[in-house]
Amino acid sequence: MKVLIIGGGGLIGQKLARSLAARGTLRGAAIDTLVLADIVDPAPVEASCTVETTRCDIADPASVAATIDADTDVIYLLAAIVSAHAEEDLDAGLNINMMGTLNVLQRCRELGTKPVLVFTSSIAVNGGDVPQPYSDYTALNPQTSYGAQKAIGELLVNDFSRRGLIDGRGFRLPTISVRPGKPNRAASGFMSSIFREPLQGQSANCPVDPDFNHYYLSPRKCVENLIKGAELHAEDLGQNRCMVMPGRVWTIQQMIDAMTAVAGPEPATRITWEKQPEIEPILKGWRMDVRADKAEALGLEADASFEDNIRYFLEDDIAPGGA
Ligand SMILES: NC(=O)c1ccc[n+]([C@@H]2O[C@H](COP(=O)([O-])OP(=O)(O)OC[C@H]3O[C@@H](n4cnc5c(N)ncnc54)[C@H](O)[C@@H]3O)[C@@H](O)[C@H]2O)c1
Repeated sequence: MKVLIIGGGGLIGQKLARSLAARGTLRGAAIDTLVLADIVDPAPVEASCTVETTRCDIADPASVAATIDADTDVIYLLAAIVSAHAEEDLDAGLNINMMGTLNVLQRCRELGTKPVLVFTSSIAVNGGDVPQPYSDYTALNPQTSYGAQKAIGELLVNDFSRRGLIDGRGFRLPTISVRPGKPNRAASGFMSSIFREPLQGQSANCPVDPDFNHYYLSPRKCVENLIKGAELHAEDLGQNRCMVMPGRVWTIQQMIDAMTAVAGPEPATRITWEKQPEIEPILKGWRMDVRADKAEALGLEADASFEDNIRYFLEDDIAPGGA
């Protein structure tokens, strides 16, 4: 089988690629070819199957057509620009997050091969005036352009699936923490940097109070869930193909305490506490009392504790040879 990861150069794309390469199978079949596509050259991964890397701009239908061929069985559509970037640049968000998603779906329609398509949505599709707790079935009410673009993507994934043009499934990802590497342009960036940097001897700023809570998942569990998500049977997904991915709500203080439990008291002393007015309007629109009942019933999982998130980061991203 041929698996394509669009956005394969990003954080989740690279980790997913390494996991799929190590596993060697998906949906009960051997992976013969793994293709990583991204607007920047994606780093190749070691695998016993064929690994191809290619440039693709999902905002450009010709580039999408050159990337998705009739042999592609499973497509992970991870390419996107993230929250603060999409808020700053409406055109880029519309072109990439909205039109880019449509371009990929239209290419699948043109090929007529009905590939499995896994779409990464976000809990940002909910927010504002929604009753809490909110669930898979709460009306989408995004309070950012990024959330609106993801909500449109979900509706398209549902409709293209209903029409039999793809076998789609979408997952509203919690905030992924601890995120390795350099900070990205997500408003939630501090939710990783206040652990990532202090655990490596550097300082980082927290712009919210210690009792600020949010919905989190580790990169390791996210990748496991995306693999399970591709393997779900269409008949188990029902008439709404998009659902919340399991995560857990923690306060900043609970997470700092978890870091201290795993790594000792020193890292927490490297956190500074200064407000960042530019992200406050985005944070105000978020709603965190989330239920992921459907995905949990289908076997997707949250982390057991934030101590686990810290351990996974140290094992996967700091230890030599980590995933
Ligand atoms: N990480 C999180 O906390 C989180 C939370 C909710 C949803 N998501 C979603 O999960 C997906 C993956 O997130 P991530 O954390 O790996 O993000 P990332 O920024 O690390 O990766 C996204 C990748 O998309 C690529 N990309 C951007 N524009 C493109 C274009 N026009 N054509 C092709 N590729 C393009 C980027 O180069 C990047 O490699 C995204 O769809 C994101 O919206 C992530």
